[in-house]
Parts: sequence; structure tokens; C-alpha cells
Amino acid sequence: MYAIQVDRLTKSYNGLVAVSEVSFNVPEGSIFGFLGPNGAGKTTTINILCTILKPSSGTAVVNGYDCLKQPDRVRQSIGIVFQDTTLDKDLTAYENLLYHAILYNVPKRLRKQKVREALRFVDLYDRRDDFVRRFSGGMKRRLEVARAIVHQPKVLFLDEPTLGLDPQSRKGLWDFITRLPAEHGVTVFMTTHYMDEAEVCDRIAIIDKGRIIAQGSPQELKKLVGGDVIYLKTTNNMDSVEILREKLGFEATLRADEIFVPVTKGEACIPEIIRLLGDRVTSVRMQRPTLNDVFLKLTGKRIREEIQDQSDQLKEAIRAYRRRFDRG
Ligand SMILES: Nc1ncnc2c1ncn2[C@@H]1O[C@H](COP(=O)(O)OP(=O)(O)OP(=O)(O)O)[C@@H](O)[C@H]1O
Ligand SMILES: [Mg+2]
Repeated sequence: MYAIQVDRLTKSYNGLVAVSEVSFNVPEGSIFGFLGPNGAGKTTTINILCTILKPSSGTAVVNGYDCLKQPDRVRQSIGIVFQDTTLDKDLTAYENLLYHAILYNVPKRLRKQKVREALRFVDLYDRRDDFVRRFSGGMKRRLEVARAIVHQPKVLFLDEPTLGLDPQSRKGLWDFITRLPAEHGVTVFMTTHYMDEAEVCDRIAIIDKGRIIAQGSPQELKKLVGGDVIYLKTTNNMDSVEILREKLGFEATLRADEIFVPVTKGEACIPEIIRLLGDRVTSVRMQRPTLNDVFLKLTGKRIREEIQDQSDQLKEAIRAYRRRFDRG
């Protein structure tokens, strides 16, 4: 059984095609990741599945309900954690969740119990009476996950749930998210541009410029790169590249001060390389392909470079702000 079925979904904004002919199915009880750089169409897709946006064409079925024809049914059966926080900062954690339970028609006799359970699940029960405005970024995100499961949805949508969090809070939140299928029977659909998060999903779709360019389990996707990558340093890299190419037929190339050798089975090739190059070798390391390598192979660019750009932009904005502040 599929919790989500999407067929040739397309969305254009005044001629700009944000999502183009996207198709995928998400099995019940699994974690599905939508991985892609900024502007890829992740939020647009999630908003269509949550019935916030109407598609230009194609179909989306969530929990057996058609997103266009039965939007109310869809909404009652899902939980959402948006990219930007939507908590009421002037209410306590408990009040935020109780208000949500009322909105979602959780029966009165069950409301308090469900709110308490959700708060306990994300370890915020002890902070239930604190105002949200006093919460850290990580706590707010956890509270949003708690709120999204108060009405016991079958599918939870999370749009970049860990964006902007420090590594420790990211890990904490991530632990709760990965426990949802087993402990709450929830199917998780999430978007991210963090490779390590995509890594833990049961299935991933890689989306770029509105199109799904590959999908499968992380293992399946990594096979697209074909084997392992060996990085070598030698006393004479130019000569070594020639030797590796001529004697072993490897597609060895020089990258900065290292030789890059893609091979099918790293363990088997390293001894062969050492035998051939002998004392010339000063260091060897082997790397399994990462999802970044997959994205690089498919698109010719890295997802992470974009993140770097963003943080550079942010740093520049902070510097500009400081300059103004210093002057004024
Ligand atoms: N309301 C809108 N009107 C016009 N264009 C839009 C609108 N919303 C999104 N777009 C455009 O659609 C494209 C996809 O945007 P979307 O927000 O879905 O990307 P995303 O993958 O979620 O990116 P990010 O990682 O930055 O959140 C972008 O080019 C964006 O500018
Ligand atoms: Mg987005």
C-alpha cells in the first residue's frame, strides 16, 4: 500500500515551471526524502501534497484521497511542519498543541492526553508551561513535530525540518523523526538538502530544476556512481597517473594534489596499485560514493556548494550590518 501516489505532477507560476512531470510513490510506514538544492521545487511539491497549492496538471493521492477532489479528507489525515516556523510565540508549548488539537477535531476527552503524549515524545513535557518565545530554535522545531502529530496523522510532511539548527539539535530532532514510523505508524515525507539526512531515508528522490533526476534507496543511488573512489598521493603524480592508465587501464586523473581513481571494488584495487607504484605511494584513501557524488555525476554540480554560497551571503550581510552599526 502506498501512503502517497504522485503522477506527472506539474506546477507553473506565470510561465515558470517550478515542478515538472514529477512521479513517485511512497510506501506506508517508510521515510521518503526529497533531496535538492535551493529552488528545486521541493516546497512547491510539498504544498501541493498538503493541498495548500493546486497543481497545474497531474495527480496526487494522499492516504487514498485525491488532493484536488478531497482536500478536506487529505488535510485531516496529515501533519505538516513548514519550512518557516508557525508556532504562536505568545502561547505556551501546551497551549499551542491544545489549540491545534481543537482545530483538528481531536475528541475532547482525548485532547489533553494526546497533547501530553506528543510533548513527552519530543522531550518537552517538562517545558510545557513555558512560552514558546523563550524556546531555542531546536526546541521550537521539536515542538512543531509534536504539534504535527497531536491529531495522529497517517502521513507527516516536513519541509527542511532541520534547516538552520546546530548539529546537536539537528541530531536530536532527527532521532525523533526516524522513530515516527515504528512508534506512531506514521509515514514521513521530508525535504532536505543535507546529505546525511537523505542517507537515512528508505527512499530518496533527487530533484533539480523541478524534475526528478533519480530515485531509489540511498544504496541504489550510490550505485549510479559505480563503485568506489581511491585517492592517492605519490612522489610524482603525473608519472603515476600515466602508469595507472597504461598498466592497469584505470581512468585516473589528477585533482589538486591527489590522484582520483574511480574503481568498481576499492579493496581489490588498492593492493594492485601499491604493487605497481611501490615506494612512490605516500598516501592512499578510499571513499565510498556519497549522495553528493551522485548529484555531482547527474548534474555536474554539488548541492553543498549552494549551501556554502548561502552561508557566504549570510556572512556578508552580517558584515554589512556591522559596518552600518559601527558608523551609526
Ligand atoms: N508563489 C510563487 N510565485 C512564483 N514563483 C514561485 C513561487 N513559489 C516558488 N516559486 C518558484 O518556484 C521555484 C521552486 O521553488 P520552491 O520553493 O518549490 O523550491 P525549494 O526546492 O523548496 O527551494 P528551497 O530549498 O530554497 O526551499 C523557484 O524558482 C521559486 O522561485
Ligand atoms: Mg523550500
